[in-house]
Amino acid sequence: MNSLSPRPGVATPQASTSSTRGLHVITWGCQMNVYDSERMSDVLRPLGYRAVSTPDAADMIILNTCHIRDRAAEKVFSELGRLRKVKEARAEQGAATVLAVAGCVAQAEGREILARAPYVDIVLGPQTYHRLPEMVARAARAAGAVIETDFPVEQKFDFLPADRAAPAGGSAFLTIQEGCDKFCSFCVVPYTRGAESSRPAQAVIDEARRLVAGGVREITLLGQNVNAYHGDGPDGRTWSLARLARVLAGELGIERIRYTTSHPRDMEDDLIAAHRDLPQLMPFLHLPVQSGSDRVLAAMNRGHTADDYRMLVARLREARPDLALSSDFIVGHPGETDADFADTMRLIDEIGFAQAYSFKYSSRPGTPAAGAGMHVPEDVKDARLQELQAMLRVQQDAFNDATIGQVVPVLFTGRGRKPGQVSGKSPWLQAVSAEGPDSLIGQIANVDIRHRYTNSLGGILTEETDRA
Ligand code: SAH
Ligand code: SF4
Ligand code: F3S
Repeated sequence: MNSLSPRPGVATPQASTSSTRGLHVITWGCQMNVYDSERMSDVLRPLGYRAVSTPDAADMIILNTCHIRDRAAEKVFSELGRLRKVKEARAEQGAATVLAVAGCVAQAEGREILARAPYVDIVLGPQTYHRLPEMVARAARAAGAVIETDFPVEQKFDFLPADRAAPAGGSAFLTIQEGCDKFCSFCVVPYTRGAESSRPAQAVIDEARRLVAGGVREITLLGQNVNAYHGDGPDGRTWSLARLARVLAGELGIERIRYTTSHPRDMEDDLIAAHRDLPQLMPFLHLPVQSGSDRVLAAMNRGHTADDYRMLVARLREARPDLALSSDFIVGHPGETDADFADTMRLIDEIGFAQAYSFKYSSRPGTPAAGAGMHVPEDVKDARLQELQAMLRVQQDAFNDATIGQVVPVLFTGRGRKPGQVSGKSPWLQAVSAEGPDSLIGQIANVDIRHRYTNSLGGILTEETDRA
């Protein structure tokens, strides 16, 4: 037993309280984790928890983790070691701290976390966040830690509070779909997030309406496979993502709609048509292809060829000529040869990406590719990644350079890095900063783009602001 067990003085939650408690949430991983972290804060608000910016001021700390690539678990244990010190220092001052581990590492390695870090009070998987208040109560009572990594029968969304706080800055994430049934050879998500499921369309519309009422002008619809969305509609039919987007743009008047991450296989005709018809659907699409080699795509179980992707991009660009594309790439998937890699480089050269994420293949225990053999040596992966990133960098710079001299509408989401600056996003998800007052935050205004920096643009506000 370490000095922190059993759990003396873990604050007992009450249904409502006048005294507030500090909550510090650390978020790693994808946007879905960002959304989940916000929702965990919402669930804890009625218990008096309010965000604090440092862990040493927190009565509860949540580490929301990601399991997607290498050393994910090691990173978690090293962070937990740091948080243990915070917890011990607070204990010396007579203050109790609830330490919770959430997210995909919690789901995948729940018991291992408790074995290696017994000072952790709560381990909870992504499907159980609505049960957090009850877990906090149990942690206060129990002599041992609380672990919840089952996939419950009830949908967490039905139990999360409806009164979601609209984030400042005019832009919000909204999860509409979770889980994945695609089982790509390399990926842990189907195991950590479970089977694919879509929220009912009305629940999404209601949440979006509240966000709009709170000043939100841009909504990014989220899902591990967001364009596989097929939610029950209020009319008793199954709604597609395109149908949902039409309602959000039309009836709700949302000015900017994005969605991520989409799979090429689920890019249905009606969604392509929505890109043609809805100016609110922003002209930037993250559409991961992973590889340009048909052999590797087949080994990855992606379910499409490189030419399928080329044709899909052509159709999308026909529908929306100013559409910019982004992708994820993996180099060094087991079995990838120099010729396969050359195919990927050729695809990148042909398509032209505005932005991209690229990774060395990382073997994940329990996934089909991990046991496949034919692993590519690390130095080969390194060399391929460098070559690929160099080409993507040239494309990204060229895309950003092409914006110089244009006047683009920017949704300002926060302050810039320099005093007196505000920063935000162009329709193509480029980071843009300009000198301007804080009152612009949460607003859309036109910016004359003058400079390109490494990963952002700088410009000057034009007088004509777009408040439409
Ligand atoms: N659902 C999305 C991807 C989610 S994971 C899709 O299908 O495109 C985000 C990205 O992480 C993936 O697109 C992939 O490029 C990368 N990734 C996932 N597992 C990986 C692994 N084992 N090794 C390296 N990169 C990986
Ligand atoms: Fe992972 Fe493939 Fe599902 Fe994307 S589609 S989450 S890469 S299994
Ligand atoms: Fe990571 Fe889980 Fe998202 S593994 S990428 S946090 S779905």
